[in-house]
Amino acid sequence: MASIATEICGISMETCVFNAAGPADVTLEELEVIGKSKSSAITMKSCTLEAREGNPEPRYRDLAFGSINSMGLPNLGYRKYIEFVAALKKFGKPIIPSISGLTRQDNEIIFEAFNDSEADFIEFNPGSPNTIGKPTAGYDMQYVDELLTAALGISNKPVGIKLPPYFDFVHFEQAWKVLKKHDIKFISTINSVGNALVIDPEKEQTVIKPKGGFGGLGGQYIKPTALANVRKFYELSEGKTPIIGVGGVFTGVDAFEYILAGATAVQVGTAFLQHGPGVFERIQKELREYMDKKGYETLEDFRGKLKVIE
Ligand code: SIN
Repeated sequence: MASIATEICGISMETCVFNAAGPADVTLEELEVIGKSKSSAITMKSCTLEAREGNPEPRYRDLAFGSINSMGLPNLGYRKYIEFVAALKKFGKPIIPSISGLTRQDNEIIFEAFNDSEADFIEFNPGSPNTIGKPTAGYDMQYVDELLTAALGISNKPVGIKLPPYFDFVHFEQAWKVLKKHDIKFISTINSVGNALVIDPEKEQTVIKPKGGFGGLGGQYIKPTALANVRKFYELSEGKTPIIGVGGVFTGVDAFEYILAGATAVQVGTAFLQHGPGVFERIQKELREYMDKKGYETLEDFRGKLKVIE
């Protein structure tokens, strides 16, 4: 049977498949479900300085090929997630806090506070499109530069960044120019495709309430965009920065495509919400089977080796 083991920030992981920050990972009860599942890590909901209720409901809708959400970072505040790190250690898998402070100062406080926790590595998330009244921080690369300087100057943990999707080669290059200045240990890409609009034609209205119905698109709709982002950052980093692919991973073949594009691991978001915690084991099994069929023994046999048509 093929091995789908991987390594991120020097930490060996039994498989390359685990949960994405966001879906069903706010409370300790939800995180324990992930702990008991075959998810190879426990990623926690992006946290802010203070607890947040999030945006008004309805703020999430399943769609034919994915989901739309404008959750607005509902979370219990960073102090709770520090407690949760300790409570989740018993599951023996990497624990990944996700930090999404609303200001540079908030981020500094939160990063410093996690220094004394047993978190394995941290995903910094300036990519949410859903904070009412705030632009997506990850599109302002000068601001990202400042945030990373502050966070990495304070954190004693390996830190990676979760990016919003980029669509133009010039924007990938601008982003990479900033990221490469910093000691980023991994890149998670992509956050939801921001400010999509889904309409219910019967009701002649939007399907979610916040921001006039505009929200982040997830699931199968966004896989091609996510694959492009994985591939571009793999190329720009010359394969040296581990990339965690996220966006529309529903099957083992989806995961295979991400690894082929250059990813080191994949995160599962919408599929976890729609199919429950058994989804991790199924995707892992399907990935192993697909590799067996192709004669691949490890992820390194095909990672990044995407062929292009000459
Ligand atoms: C949300 O809570 O709005 C989703 C988080 C994110 O987009 O990063």
